[in-house]
Amino acid sequence: MNKALRTPVIAGNWKMNKSGAEARALIEELLPLAAGAACGVVVCPPFTALETALAVTRGTNIAVGAQNCHWAASGAFTGEVAAPMLAEMGVSHVIVGHSERRQYFGETDATVNTRVRAALDAGLTAILCVGETLTQREQGITRDICSMQVRVALGGVSAGEMKRVIVAYEPVWAIGTGKTATAAQAGETCGDIRAVLADLFGTAAANAAVIQYGGSMNAANAAELLARPDIDGGLIGGASLKPADFAAIIGACS
Ligand code: PGA
Repeated sequence: MNKALRTPVIAGNWKMNKSGAEARALIEELLPLAAGAACGVVVCPPFTALETALAVTRGTNIAVGAQNCHWAASGAFTGEVAAPMLAEMGVSHVIVGHSERRQYFGETDATVNTRVRAALDAGLTAILCVGETLTQREQGITRDICSMQVRVALGGVSAGEMKRVIVAYEPVWAIGTGKTATAAQAGETCGDIRAVLADLFGTAAANAAVIQYGGSMNAANAAELLARPDIDGGLIGGASLKPADFAAIIGACS
């Protein structure tokens, strides 16, 4: 619905890959390929490569995001990074609630909510990840799971702040597995998520919200996924590490 109201965003989640030098090389290769993008483009390298990524992308159409932020502005949280620290560097986006964080690092909907809140308070755009496991899809509770994850994660967020929230629908079973949700499955769930946003924030905010699909999106399947009315871009893992593949996904937005 009203897809024309929204500018799609293609974001690369590099996960725990690329040194600073490798990040520089990847982005330098990507820059000319992405220069004419009809969508927003974001790269999310590891914390240690953020400074390099910011330097290489300065003055270009590529924005830089982090892969996580803590809920507190500072404090005794060994190994964590605070949202205001990211904002001060010039980072504009942060992924929150990725299923790998939920699976391996004990993230819950409640901590995802506090991290989203911290990101927004720091002036960042949060890329909020939600999605069901294979068991949950087989049990027919995909819509309920995604609805609950979205509702809890966005507690205390205002309709106005939704301009700085991107929701990434990422079925857990499709991440890094080469198994993509079909365009119909992905489109349906993204539509369900938009209905939840309408319930929470009103139709106007929901129609303006960017909802990405993520999970084995690649150069070959991107166009079909991105053509669905409720899919406004992608959160790309594996394929974002290959500039030509990532650029082809960006190109599929036009
Ligand atoms: P994938 O990862 O594209 O490698 O499946 C997506 C993600 O985890 O965001």
